[in-house]
Amino acid sequence: MRSVAVTNAKGGVGKSTTAINLAAALVELDRRVLLIDADPSGNAALGFFPRGSPAVGLADALLDNLRLEEVAVATASPGLDLVPPGDRLSLCSEQMGSAQGLGQGREFRIRRLLKGLSGYDLVVVDTSPVLTPLNVAILYAVAEILIPIDPCVAALAGVRALEDLVRTVSEFRLEFTDAGPLTIAGVLITRADRTLVSKQIESEVRAYFGPLVYDRVIPASVKFREAYARGTPLIDYDRFGAGAEGYRAAARAYLHGHREPLVAAPPADEGPPDEPPADDPAAVENQPFLKAS
Ligand SMILES: Nc1ncnc2c1ncn2[C@@H]1O[C@H](COP(=O)(O)OP(=O)(O)OP(=O)(O)O)[C@@H](O)[C@H]1O
Ligand SMILES: [Mg+2]
Repeated sequence: MRSVAVTNAKGGVGKSTTAINLAAALVELDRRVLLIDADPSGNAALGFFPRGSPAVGLADALLDNLRLEEVAVATASPGLDLVPPGDRLSLCSEQMGSAQGLGQGREFRIRRLLKGLSGYDLVVVDTSPVLTPLNVAILYAVAEILIPIDPCVAALAGVRALEDLVRTVSEFRLEFTDAGPLTIAGVLITRADRTLVSKQIESEVRAYFGPLVYDRVIPASVKFREAYARGTPLIDYDRFGAGAEGYRAAARAYLHGHREPLVAAPPADEGPPDEPPADDPAAVENQPFLKAS
């Protein structure tokens, strides 16, 4: 089972939209997908339940030791289940302590929940833009991150803020857990338009991340807001539009694309990480993207 967090320290870049539509596109490719909304504001869940996200969810799994299967709800797309954040998720994040309090055990709770999960091929986690203890816990729990980037002027500043945290977590994972290094599964340019600034930032992002950036970008389109308001993933709402095709291409790139660990993998005699290798192991290059500091 692969698990990916859709994350960026910047707000409003299309994390929730990407989590929703990537999950829906992976279902089209016959994967059984669990989408976990780990943002207390519940934007991913509202994308399926526009009248209100269910009250019970991830918070209840964390606070009352329920299994994820017990708090998951079916969506209108067969094969796609959702774990809503649950009304108490903000409380839960506060109880996890500070990002500095690493190693006290609480941050591993989501990891344990994911390890115990069965019945899904893929888990996609939507995160909040704030660097909360909950987001740190998610970075311990998942194998991979996918970074959506809105090509506006401050785009790379948001990425650098995320990188510092990801590097710390990645080193800590190698030292204290059997999780293996955190891997960048891809970088997806969202909300691209024809302006010069969009093109310029896109080429900066491509120069910075190289082959991790998916070839196809997600165009800016009002259809995303329409689809969201109707509680339907865009790929079902505007099936043949460029946005839908963009997310289908992202899903294929996620399944088969280039990936890079953030710090070097452990030596072979420590055993392999517990997450399965890529569908196509030859596509995974074992070169650190960011060298451990
Ligand atoms: N490709 C797109 N074209 C036009 N609008 C988009 C696109 N992708 C997302 N949006 C819209 O932009 C807004 C922000 O998107 P979204 O909620 O996915 O971002 P986010 O990164 O999850 O935000 P937050 O940081 O608040 O969680 C939403 O209104 C969404 O409908
Ligand atoms: Mg969001």
